[in-house]
Amino acid sequence: MSELTEPALSGEPALRVTDLRTYFPVRSKGLFPKTVGQVKAVDGVSFSVNPGQTLGLVGESGCGKSTTGRSVLRLVEPTSGRIEFDGVDVTEMSSKEMVPIRRKAAMIFQDPYNALNPRHTVGAIIGAPFEVQGVKPPGGVRKAVQELMERVGLNPEHYNRYPAEFSGGQRQRIGIARAVALKPKFIVCDEPVSALDVSIQAQVINLLRDLQDDFGIAYLFIAHDLAVVRQISHQVAVMYLGHVMEMASRTDLYSRPLHPYTHALLSAIPIPDPRAQKQREHIMLSGDLPSPASPPAGCVFHTRCFQAQDICALEKPELSEFEPGHKVACHFPIVEFLGTAPITGPDPGLTKQGYSAGSAAGEDRGSHDLIREIGTDYGVGPDTPIDPGPAIWR
Ligand SMILES: Nc1ncnc2c1ncn2[C@@H]1O[C@H](COP(=O)(O)OP(=O)(O)OP(=O)(O)O)[C@@H](O)[C@H]1O
Ligand code: SF4
Ligand SMILES: [Mg+2]
Repeated sequence: MSELTEPALSGEPALRVTDLRTYFPVRSKGLFPKTVGQVKAVDGVSFSVNPGQTLGLVGESGCGKSTTGRSVLRLVEPTSGRIEFDGVDVTEMSSKEMVPIRRKAAMIFQDPYNALNPRHTVGAIIGAPFEVQGVKPPGGVRKAVQELMERVGLNPEHYNRYPAEFSGGQRQRIGIARAVALKPKFIVCDEPVSALDVSIQAQVINLLRDLQDDFGIAYLFIAHDLAVVRQISHQVAVMYLGHVMEMASRTDLYSRPLHPYTHALLSAIPIPDPRAQKQREHIMLSGDLPSPASPPAGCVFHTRCFQAQDICALEKPELSEFEPGHKVACHFPIVEFLGTAPITGPDPGLTKQGYSAGSAAGEDRGSHDLIREIGTDYGVGPDTPIDPGPAIWR
């Protein structure tokens, strides 16, 4: 497995997203429901992912991460914006036109228990993309599936077993095998390790990185946990209330964060060095997350920002380049040391041993705590059923 390197700056991105917006209608109750508002789940997001690299998309529950991933794959219809795979604009493509595109793009879901059909054998689940897409691999589907099972660390002899006979980590491997079956160029990984124990998380992340190295896959890796995102991402985008607040290379984001929200998220990650930990401050955000159905005017973060000034409630800061490769959406980016950064030191993502033996458990606990502290009540019920896997290949 190679080390994570900085993103390549040339060539066509595997995925380019421009000013993506996905709004869900809010309907009134009663016999004749009317649209009375909109949930702005994704509200003007732009980013790109280079071939063979990973963009980590991180933020609190409900900030629009999954909707971004689903919109990109056209599993939910975007309200506006542009989505390009390999330079091809897929935004307006019909379902029929999307069929060949779906070979190039796949999804791995958060919940390995719900993402697999319990009535199908593992062989049928992993083989579904071949069947749905009418792809005949050399040697037949069974052979291809068994090779995939071996590749992801499953016993090929378990071809006829059912998902219930596997552990959580093994089920996620089944989901990964299904996702890479057609050798896609791009995969949305929606919280693929959040439901797993920390030691299993490390194994699954290492598997994803190995597959990326082997097949040159680009990932949009979604997580609410900055520590997890750091293990796999070349670039990281921090989302808040449907907006990208900061985007930078992994090194820059963790060592020199600029946005107050990124500082707050990072301050919740305990670091293993007790002396450094003592010097750090934990920034507590005040107030509840606003509802995406009525986001604040100006900077959407201003109601909770410890840096906010009058202009923040009036003028929306655009995501713009503060320094080469480092974008931030803030009128007053934090450039001085706040006691929260830098998160440097040995990078637990660089070796398998390092990650397993590193501070992953502590880091994991840290960001979950933050999410609990700042609350997740949006006043709009999350209605995000897990997609049946094969739908994505149709
Ligand atoms: N189908 C839908 N209809 C209406 N509202 C929705 C729908 N899907 C998502 N939402 C709303 O859009 C917002 C963003 O949801 P999304 O699931 O994208 O967030 P998330 O960042 O993935 O959260 P989590 O970390 O909890 O998975 C939330 O307020 C959610 O309630
Ligand atoms: S624009 Fe103002 S409110 Fe928004 S993050 Fe920056 S300082 Fe805070
Ligand atoms: Mg989600």
